[in-house]
Amino acid sequence: MIEAAKAVAVPADRQVLHVLPREFKVDGQDGITDPIGMSGIRLEAAVHIVTGGQTAINNTTKCIEKAGLHVAGFVLDSLASASAVLSEDEKSLGVCVVDMGGGTCNILYFVNGSVASSSVLPIGGSHFTHDVAVGLRTPQAAAEELKRKYGSALGSLISDTESIDVEGVGGRNSRQIPRKDLADVLEARAEEVLNLIGNDLRLSGLMPMMGSGVVLTGGASQLQGLVEMGEYIFEVPVRRGLPQGVGGLKDVVKTADFSTAVGLLKYGFIERKEAMIQHSQNAQKEFGSLFVSQFGQK
Ligand SMILES: Nc1ncnc2c1ncn2[C@@H]1O[C@H](COP(=O)(O)OP(=O)(O)OP(=O)(O)O)[C@@H](O)[C@H]1O
Ligand SMILES: [Mg+2]
Repeated sequence: MIEAAKAVAVPADRQVLHVLPREFKVDGQDGITDPIGMSGIRLEAAVHIVTGGQTAINNTTKCIEKAGLHVAGFVLDSLASASAVLSEDEKSLGVCVVDMGGGTCNILYFVNGSVASSSVLPIGGSHFTHDVAVGLRTPQAAAEELKRKYGSALGSLISDTESIDVEGVGGRNSRQIPRKDLADVLEARAEEVLNLIGNDLRLSGLMPMMGSGVVLTGGASQLQGLVEMGEYIFEVPVRRGLPQGVGGLKDVVKTADFSTAVGLLKYGFIERKEAMIQHSQNAQKEFGSLFVSQFGQK
C-alpha cells in the first residue's frame, strides 16, 4: 500500500521522498497504527507524503559526489532530527519538533506516534548572524562568533554593566558596546522567527494534540533564552532537544547542531536492520521451500 502511494502524481519538478503512514483503517475500523497480522477485506491508509525539489536534490547529489561520497538516500532533515531527539512517549502524546538550521526551520508534527504534518520556513540561524553584522557593523565571521559566545534572545537576561568588543569592518578599529545591544538585535529576530513557528502551529490545527509541547533543536536553537521566549509565544511547554541514545564519541555529538547527523545515522541503521531482517526471512522461506521440495522428491 505504501509502495502504491509512492506512485501518486506530483509535479515534474518534484520527487517523492517519504510516504509516512498516519493511520490505517481495516474494514472501516480506524485508529490502527500497525495492521500487520490483522484480517479484513478492505485496507485503507491516511499518509503524509513529503516531496523534494528535483533541482535541489540533483545539486545536493552532485555536491556530495564531488566530495567523494556516495548518496544512499534522502531523508527529510526534521525526520532525522526527530529520531535523534524525541522519545517514543513524546511522539505518542503529540509533539512538534522544530529543527532550526542555518537557512531554514523545519517543523514536524507527531500525533499518536505518527507524522501528521511537516513544513519548512525559509529562515534560520544565518539571518540572526546577518542582523548582528548589519546592526553592529562587523564582519559576518565576527558576528557569528559574537552570536555564539555572547548572544541571547532575551535582553532582560543580560546585565546593563556587561560590555563586549566588536571588530570593525574594512580595517576600522574595534569598539566596545554594551552586551545588551547584541541581545536587542537578536531578540527582534528571535521574536519574528518564533512568531512564524507559532503561526504554523496555529494554522496546522494540531495545537490541541501537542500534549508534549514543542522541542527546539538544530544549531540555531542553541541561542540562550530561545526556549524561554518560545514558551511565552507558543503557550505550551518547550524544551531543547539534544541527540539521545548514542554511545561512542557522544561528548562530541551531544549538542543540538548534531541532531540531524545523529538522526541520519539512526535512520540508516534502522533501515539497514529492517532490510537484513527481511532478507533473512526471505532466505528462511527459500530454505523452507527447498527443504519441502527435496523432502517431496524423496
Ligand atoms: N551556540 C550557538 N548559538 C546560536 N546559534 C548557533 C550556535 N551554534 C550554531 N548556531 C547556528 O546554527 C546554524 C547552523 O545550524 P545547523 O548545523 O543545524 O544547520 P544546517 O543543518 O547546516 O542548516 P539547514 O538545516 O538550514 O540546512 C548556524 O546559523 C549557526 O550560526
Ligand atoms: Mg539542518
